[in-house]
Amino acid sequence: GRPRDLAGRRVVVSAGGTREAIDPVRFIGNRSSGLQGYALARTAVARGAEVTLVAANVALPDPAGATVVRVESTADLRAAVLSAAGTADAVVMAAAVADFRPAARGDSKIKKTSAEPEPIHLTKNPDILAELCDRRREGRGPAPEVIAGFAAETDDILANGRAKLARKGCDLLVVNQVGENLAFGTPDNAAVVLVAGGDPVEVPRGPKDDLADVVWDLVAARLG
Ligand code: C5P
Repeated sequence: GRPRDLAGRRVVVSAGGTREAIDPVRFIGNRSSGLQGYALARTAVARGAEVTLVAANVALPDPAGATVVRVESTADLRAAVLSAAGTADAVVMAAAVADFRPAARGDSKIKKTSAEPEPIHLTKNPDILAELCDRRREGRGPAPEVIAGFAAETDDILANGRAKLARKGCDLLVVNQVGENLAFGTPDNAAVVLVAGGDPVEVPRGPKDDLADVVWDLVAARLG
């Protein structure tokens, strides 16, 4: 059995991948299945936490015992996460958030014409994880005790991960090894969890629940 070490704690987990509308029927999206975020939500419930799961475009049933907020775009995800974070002890951002969105969303479906198609112009999305950390540091808005992010890296995992942890200002960064049938859409994951002011924790390839439990071990250790 799992420890009930998150009893009385409120945690927020984001899962899945955001979609950015191009027109009423099309979007720019990504391949995140939401499996890792759902594993985090499930294991947190099992460890006694009160869990809000912000799920972006996930085709999985709601995990028992969690409050699920379904969202589509990065703007939706940002609003839901910032709102739930207001009363949270910990936030774990496992969602794959679109870095860019179409600058203008057409109100009608783009027509197939004989002329050359118009280019789709992109604009930057806000970095929700970085914003959460900035707000906490500057004492404005939600101040969860522990803020964790995920990062998919293919090379120089430790160096790139360390730089990202520092840049975002979060407490934990789970650096996924992508590729080789790992991460996206698979039941398994392998990762290194970088800890602000601490040693990295290596998690060998295994079920996403195992990685989730390591994350909650580290979160629980940092909660006062
Ligand atoms: O910078 P990068 O996209 O690699 O960082 C990944 C982490 O940042 C994930 O935890 C993701 O949920 C979060 N993120 C975010 N807002 C963005 C992009 C990423 O919160 N616009």
